[in-house]
Amino acid sequence: MGNLRNDGSGTYTCVQLARRPAGLPVAADWSLETTDIPGLGLGQFLVRITMISLDPAMRGWLDDRPSYLPPVAIGEVMRAGAVGEVISSNHPRFKIGDFVQGTFGVQEYAVSDGTGVTRIDPKLGTQSMYLGALGMTGMTAYFGFFDYGRPRAGDTVVVSAAAGAVGSIVGQLAKINGCHTVGLAGGPDKCAFVVNELGFDAAIDYKNANLRESFQQHCPAGIDVYFDNVGGAILNTALSQLAMHARIIICGAISQYNAESVTPGPSNYLALLVRRATMQGFLVFDHAGEYSVARKRLAQWAKAGKIIAPETIVPGKITDFHEVFMRLFAGDNTGKLILDISGH
Ligand SMILES: NC(=O)c1ccc[n+]([C@@H]2O[C@H](COP(=O)([O-])OP(=O)(O)OC[C@H]3O[C@@H](n4cnc5c(N)ncnc54)[C@H](OP(=O)(O)O)[C@@H]3O)[C@@H](O)[C@H]2O)c1
Repeated sequence: MGNLRNDGSGTYTCVQLARRPAGLPVAADWSLETTDIPGLGLGQFLVRITMISLDPAMRGWLDDRPSYLPPVAIGEVMRAGAVGEVISSNHPRFKIGDFVQGTFGVQEYAVSDGTGVTRIDPKLGTQSMYLGALGMTGMTAYFGFFDYGRPRAGDTVVVSAAAGAVGSIVGQLAKINGCHTVGLAGGPDKCAFVVNELGFDAAIDYKNANLRESFQQHCPAGIDVYFDNVGGAILNTALSQLAMHARIIICGAISQYNAESVTPGPSNYLALLVRRATMQGFLVFDHAGEYSVARKRLAQWAKAGKIIAPETIVPGKITDFHEVFMRLFAGDNTGKLILDISGH
């Protein structure tokens, strides 16, 4: 990986945004740049990146429109969560040999001043778990479900993209909480995984089933909590099947992220009035101050075997970024999708 000499100098490769994608990103939207490893200033440390997180939100960061973060600029290193090892340090709290997690970007090395960086505690979990179940994914599931879903035992909880990184954790948290859980996933294999490995009570293959009939079959008293990762037609149909005082949590809308024209809003929104329901969006970053508590609870559940942390870890090089990123939109991942560049 890179070309690091004994004196700390050398070069490394990063992935920059070359142009804004129209619709689904293509390889030419990125450029590979080889640059010098910078020297460290006071209070800085150098991270050799081992694993890069692939997140649907990264697609949103490519569009030049107002959002919760500024868009990635043309020519800027692609923003991404990552983990890695501190290999040199002028920082009082981060030492050589520490493994850390932060928004280090799609590159082989990163210089950091420690802002937003978490030291990995191997007693809690692995490096990959700090990107998945104990990282942003797990935090999203935990705060989205508990704080906004306000679940009660016996609730019927429906989760879209249930075999994915966030959805797989939400469903398991719902089971821990005594809920009846129904997951939506694409294809029979993912649906079998959702029931047999994740412990959902039922799965709906949204690509092949009649959604309305499936909801009526698996949620006969209506949906109490709908944790939505996909938006679009699935959200619209779920709105038609709400129980009284249902909570709809808008976590994401991956079905719309590559849309080239304006997507219509859900026509069934008046169900919110009829069912006295609430539909609320949330952003995991608003809970940053509470991450350490959530991380400990999730780690305890994982240790106790109450949750599993599914991961699709793809070994490769930094140059494989585009191909691996695109798996998210093809549904070619189960659990947390990670590019592992530690072998290169
Ligand atoms: N609000 C927040 O703070 C926050 C934080 C993190 C993530 N999120 C959101 O949470 C959602 C899940 O993220 P994740 O990291 O866990 O991703 P993920 O679920 O692991 O991966 C994406 C999955 O979405 C499904 N999918 C892809 N295209 C689809 C389409 N057109 N229609 C329906 N489903 C589609 C695929 O599963 P199938 O094969 O089953 O179709 C795919 O495997 C995303 O919307 C993301 O933006 C929000």
